[in-house]
Amino acid sequence: MIGCGYVGLVSGTCLADFGHNVVCVDADAEKIDLIESGTMPIYEIGLEELVKRNRSSGRLVFTTDIGKAVSDSLVVFLAVGTPGAGFAGRADLSQVYSAAEEVAQAIDDYKVIVSKSTVPVGTGRQLKRLISDVLDRKLSAEYLNTHPDAQAVKPDFDVVSNPEFLREGSGIEDFMRPNRVVIGSDSESARAIMKDIYRPLYLLDTPMVNTTIETAELIKYASNAFLATKISYINSMSRLCEALGADIDDLARGMGLDRRIGRKFLHVSPGYGGSCFPKDTVALTHIAKDAGLTVPIVEATIKTNEEQKKMALEKIVASVGEIKDKKIAVLGLAFKPNTDDMRDASSMTIIRGLLAKGAHVKAYDPAAMKNARRVLPEVEYAEELYSAIEGADALVLMTEWNAFRQLDLLKVKKLLNRPLFVDLRNIYTPARMERLGFEYVSLGRGADYVAGGE
Ligand SMILES: NC(=O)c1ccc[n+]([C@@H]2O[C@H](COP(=O)([O-])OP(=O)(O)OC[C@H]3O[C@@H](n4cnc5c(N)ncnc54)[C@H](O)[C@@H]3O)[C@@H](O)[C@H]2O)c1
Repeated sequence: MIGCGYVGLVSGTCLADFGHNVVCVDADAEKIDLIESGTMPIYEIGLEELVKRNRSSGRLVFTTDIGKAVSDSLVVFLAVGTPGAGFAGRADLSQVYSAAEEVAQAIDDYKVIVSKSTVPVGTGRQLKRLISDVLDRKLSAEYLNTHPDAQAVKPDFDVVSNPEFLREGSGIEDFMRPNRVVIGSDSESARAIMKDIYRPLYLLDTPMVNTTIETAELIKYASNAFLATKISYINSMSRLCEALGADIDDLARGMGLDRRIGRKFLHVSPGYGGSCFPKDTVALTHIAKDAGLTVPIVEATIKTNEEQKKMALEKIVASVGEIKDKKIAVLGLAFKPNTDDMRDASSMTIIRGLLAKGAHVKAYDPAAMKNARRVLPEVEYAEELYSAIEGADALVLMTEWNAFRQLDLLKVKKLLNRPLFVDLRNIYTPARMERLGFEYVSLGRGADYVAGGE
C-alpha cells in the first residue's frame, strides 16, 4: 500500500485484517515513525486498535522502503494524494506518477498495480504506459551494463482501477462493509487476483462492479459529484425556505422519505468541504472540458457551495451587527464530525471572513485543532468546549460533533456576553432556544411568511 494517509492507512490495515500480508509505505519518514510508535497520524475511530492488532499478528508492517515493499508483493495499491489546488482545479497527479515511477523501478516479477487514489479518466492507461516505459528503459543495453543483477526479460504487469469510497470518520466500517467494490480492468488474471483480495466481502454479499478502467475512474467522480449536488440542492432549497417561510428540516424530511430520493445528504449546512467533494467536483468539470464537453449541473453545484459559505458568513455578520473587535466563539472546525481533516473545510472560509472584518475568534474542536492551527494561525484555540464560549458576543456552531448536540444550554447562556447562537447545522430548535432566552439564528427556517401575504 503506497501512501499512509486517510485512505492508505485505513485500507492497508483493513486488508491486513482480512488476513493478507500488507506492507504500508509512506515517503514521510516521520509519519512511519509515528505509526510504529503506536500513535496514529490521523483521527479515525478504531484505527489505533486495529493497527496494533494486525501489527502484533505480523500481517501489517510499515516502511519507507518502496523498492522492497514492491518486490515482496504481488499487488501494489497506489493510495497517494491527488489534490486539486495549484493546477486551476485539475487533479494534481504528481504524487501518483512519481510513486508509479518508483514502483516501476522495483518491478521484478508479475504485479498488479491498483489505483485507489481518485484519478481522472485516462490515468490508468497513462500509468500503464509510464510503467511500461520504465521497464523498457531497464532493458536497454546501457542499463544492463551498469546493473549486473538486472533481468533481461520484461516482467509482465496489469493496471487496475479500484476507487475507494470510504468516508473519513467511519473509514474502517466503510472499508469492511462497503456498499460496493468497483474493479476496473482489462485483464482477467488481475480481476481474479482482486476478487481474491476482497474475498471476505463476498461472504457479506457485497456487490462487485466489474468495469473497464475508464468506467471505474469515472464512477468515483460521478458518485462524489452526485453527492455534492445533493448537498448544494438542499442548501439552495434552504434559501428558498427562508424567503418563502418554509422550513428546511421538514422539507428535507418530506423529500427524503421518498425512497427514490433518500434522506442522506439532505441536511442544510454551511456548504460541503473536505478532501474529496471540493476537489473532485472541480476536477470533473475539467475532465469534461478536456473531452470537449461541459457539466453545467456540477458547475452549479460548485457555485452554490461557494455562495452557501458566503451566505453563512453574511448571516453571522448580520446577526452580530458591528462585528469589529467582537469576540466570536466557534464550535467545530473540521469539515465534518469524527475527523481531524481541515482540507477545504467551510470553517476556513467563514472564520477568515470574520477575522478580515476585525472579529476575534476563539474556537474549539474535539479533534481538528492541531491541523486547524496550521491553516488558521490567527484563531485563539480553547482547550475545553465551554472555555471557548466564555465572554463571547456570539456562538457559531460550525460542525455537528456529538459533543455539541447536548450542550448545557443554561451554562452556555451564562457564559456568553450576548446570548446570540448561530446554529449552522440546525441542531437545536428555534422554539426551545427562544424559550431559553437565546437570540437564535439557523438556516432555512423561514418564520415570517404568511401564505398569500407579502
Ligand atoms: N480522504 C478520503 O476520505 C478519501 C476517500 C476516498 C478516496 N480518497 C482519495 O484517495 C487518495 C488519497 O487520499 P488521502 O486523503 O488518503 O490523502 P493523504 O494526503 O491523506 O495521504 C497521501 C499519503 O501519500 C504519501 N505519499 C505521497 N507520495 C508518496 C510516494 N511517492 N511514496 C510513498 N508515499 C507517498 C503522503 O506522504 C501521504 O501520507 C486521493 O486520491 C483521494 O482523493 C480519499
